Amino acid sequence: MSEERFMDKIIEVCLRRGFVSPTAEIYGGAGGFYDYGPLGTLMRQKIIDLWRQSFVLDEDDIYEITGSTLLPEAVFKASGHLDSFDDPLVQCEKCKSMFKADEVIKGVTGKSAEGLSLEELDKLIADNNINCPSCEGTLAKTRDFNLMFKTEIGSTGGINGYLRPETAQNIFINFKRLANFMRNKLPFGVAQMGSSFRNEISPRNFLIRGREFEQMEIEMFYDQDKENEHPRFHEVADIEINLVTREMQEKGWKEPLKLTTEAAVDEGVIPNQYLAYYLALETEMLKAIGIPEDDFWFRHMQDHEAPHYSAGNFDLEADLSLGHMEIVGNALRTDYDLQKHAKASKSTFELTMPDGKKVVPHVFEPSLGVGRIFYTVLEKCYREDERGWTWFQFPPTVAPLEVAVFPLMKKDGLAELAQEIHNELKDAGYLSFYDGSGKIGKRYARADEIGIPYCVTVDYDSIKEFSVTIRDRDTMKQIKLPIEDLEIAIGELMDGEADFEEFNQES
Ligand code: GAP
Repeated sequence: MSEERFMDKIIEVCLRRGFVSPTAEIYGGAGGFYDYGPLGTLMRQKIIDLWRQSFVLDEDDIYEITGSTLLPEAVFKASGHLDSFDDPLVQCEKCKSMFKADEVIKGVTGKSAEGLSLEELDKLIADNNINCPSCEGTLAKTRDFNLMFKTEIGSTGGINGYLRPETAQNIFINFKRLANFMRNKLPFGVAQMGSSFRNEISPRNFLIRGREFEQMEIEMFYDQDKENEHPRFHEVADIEINLVTREMQEKGWKEPLKLTTEAAVDEGVIPNQYLAYYLALETEMLKAIGIPEDDFWFRHMQDHEAPHYSAGNFDLEADLSLGHMEIVGNALRTDYDLQKHAKASKSTFELTMPDGKKVVPHVFEPSLGVGRIFYTVLEKCYREDERGWTWFQFPPTVAPLEVAVFPLMKKDGLAELAQEIHNELKDAGYLSFYDGSGKIGKRYARADEIGIPYCVTVDYDSIKEFSVTIRDRDTMKQIKLPIEDLEIAIGELMDGEADFEEFNQES
């Protein structure tokens, strides 16, 4: 199976079964814009809800905000995005196609050229005799290309505005009001989920690099002198995380290093408890949504790879069919943004601590990309088997639909009873799906293809002895249960409180 074809298989199911499709598809698409369809929207929402629950609602000192996506130029002038949020663009002198220079180089040499200067990139292009990937024409000199989408605000166009390239800036520019809301005490965090926009030179690989995408970000503000006093660190101290240190990268690593967060901080592999806390939360979240723990790790980025605002990044990378891909950015943003905005807006963002000490907080930022996580789940849960079926082994945590209800036949009251059971499951809060047409095997195949964990069949025994059959997607095993026990059984199966095998023995 070639790598390109693997992603194409996933895209094919996504288009056909209502997960994701290109924006403005009937007009040929827009390049880097995608719409979530009915199933995609349900699954995307589950991913967001899981993040919201474990990163925001489970915490006492973190609240979520919803900011504007279009911000005035002053914001990005201060934040450094206007000057530094660039990608290296190289254009073919012959066919005029444009490419991201580091990607063209990687395509030929196989080595990452991310973060290198324009001069270094030009030298690599010359030394390796690299020509245009489309027409073999000569490539012009590499230049900086700012990734922000620019527009004018107002009918007279007096003010330049930009679509935000990250959700974070809304939080920094609201810092004073947010700190007041949090009674000016540290630590506190502010979360935001929403769209960000980047005019990527070469959007590619489906949801992995789009021009509009969603981020789930937290700016965690803390006193740098207390960077190892995260209030809940003890709760994650024993969680093992996969790490790739800079030293391992120099030596050429094969397997990540497995350490508990506590050991990682104690041994200086991770700079502080705030960072370690979130690496643990991300590890737990990815495992819960079906991404095997050996398939992702946190890589300490080299200095030249880190964004302009970061004093160190430990990005979560996943092993995908396309290679190693960044799925989550984890940045130690220090007091960079607050200092920049304080200076540019002539404000002060200093907080006074109970002992009188004045502090401009430091910031740790976990930035999770919804689309990249969504795609990673699709890839890691995709299955092909000897029946010739393709299906998704989604855990119930992300399955867009949780249970399918089928009447064996449409006649003799079976359809009515199945519909009633389906309605009751929906009332109980399950994402239930009713399918009354086609052979039963075909209905199982349709349900498995979109990853529904459990199918419930209503047959003549349902009328005679008030029982239904539940089929487990992963093992294809079936159990019979009284209708009155169905809701509880589905709940216990989904939560992992009951095992299908155990039910089998009981029934
Ligand atoms: N506020 C920090 C920030 O934006 P980033 O590493 O540039 O950091 C964070 O982005 C995450 O946002 C990435 O790890 C990825 O999941 C997602 N992301 C960034 N650019 C993206 C793109 N063009 N398409 C899809 N997701 C993207």
